[in-house]
Amino acid sequence: MHTVAVLSLKGGVGKTTVALGIASAAMRRGIRALVADLDPQGNATASLDPPFTDATLADVLETPDRDVLARAIAPSVWSEDVEVLVGAEELEALNEPGPDEHRLMSLSRALDELQDAPPHGKPYDLVILDCPPSLGRLTKSALVAADSALLVTEPTMYAVAGAQRALEAIEQIRDEHNQDLRAAGVLVNRLRPRSHEHQFRIAELRESFGALVMPTAIPDRLAIQQAQGACSPIHEWHSPGAQEIALTFNMVLAKILRSNRAGRHRIDRDETAAETTGPIEPIRTDARR
Ligand SMILES: Nc1ncnc2c1ncn2[C@@H]1O[C@H](COP(=O)(O)OP(=O)(O)O)[C@@H](O)[C@H]1O
Ligand SMILES: [Mg+2]
Repeated sequence: MHTVAVLSLKGGVGKTTVALGIASAAMRRGIRALVADLDPQGNATASLDPPFTDATLADVLETPDRDVLARAIAPSVWSEDVEVLVGAEELEALNEPGPDEHRLMSLSRALDELQDAPPHGKPYDLVILDCPPSLGRLTKSALVAADSALLVTEPTMYAVAGAQRALEAIEQIRDEHNQDLRAAGVLVNRLRPRSHEHQFRIAELRESFGALVMPTAIPDRLAIQQAQGACSPIHEWHSPGAQEIALTFNMVLAKILRSNRAGRHRIDRDETAAETTGPIEPIRTDARR
């Protein structure tokens, strides 16, 4: 079981979109996945539309045992092999900073339970943690529980500074709580390929973070919103724009699973540059809406 945390410093940059895109790619590859919705807004839960559960992730974090987990997990409308650990507004109260260290470990403990004895029988290959939009306690507990962390950013003016801060947070959690944590990469979302400003920001990100920046960005496409609105995995949304994005998520999933094996995408920049798997491909500029 590999656990990836999808995070960013800000809201609205596409964490949930990316978490769902990875789940969709996993489904297409026959990889059994669980999406844990750590955001009190519950957008991932809304898009995956599981049947009502009488417990949520908030209960799991209070009591990380198998019974509560089993009550808080349900299959998505997508497939029986994509399940949801459902989010809830009550998570907001658990996001505040506090001295209570053991709270940081409760998600990690819950995931250990999942690995040892998956509540609905079949084990998960992949757990995707959809984080809330801050580096608060919930995101930290995701980093404590994760094997890898995927940073999502838009190609805007503050992207480098934001990614830097998030990578520092990853490094801190790695030093203090989770020495196996890897940065799977920085994924740029909502790229407008014809925008010079966006191309400039991507170049800036590459200059700062080298091979950590994913070779392909997710373009800004209406198909993403349409598929989410229809509670459909992007891989099953039949428009040329959706298919192109689906292929990008296949690549993102492959990279996440690779970071598990080799552990070579470390967050130390020099090391990353030295350990890159190949040349960084230019962003495609021929994409059409
Ligand atoms: N690449 C994209 N193209 C078009 N719309 C997008 C894209 N990425 C995200 N969106 C839309 O932007 C909004 C915010 O995205 P979301 O994934 O919910 O962000 P976050 O989880 O970081 O808050 C959603 O309505 C989503 O459908
Ligand atoms: Mg979200």
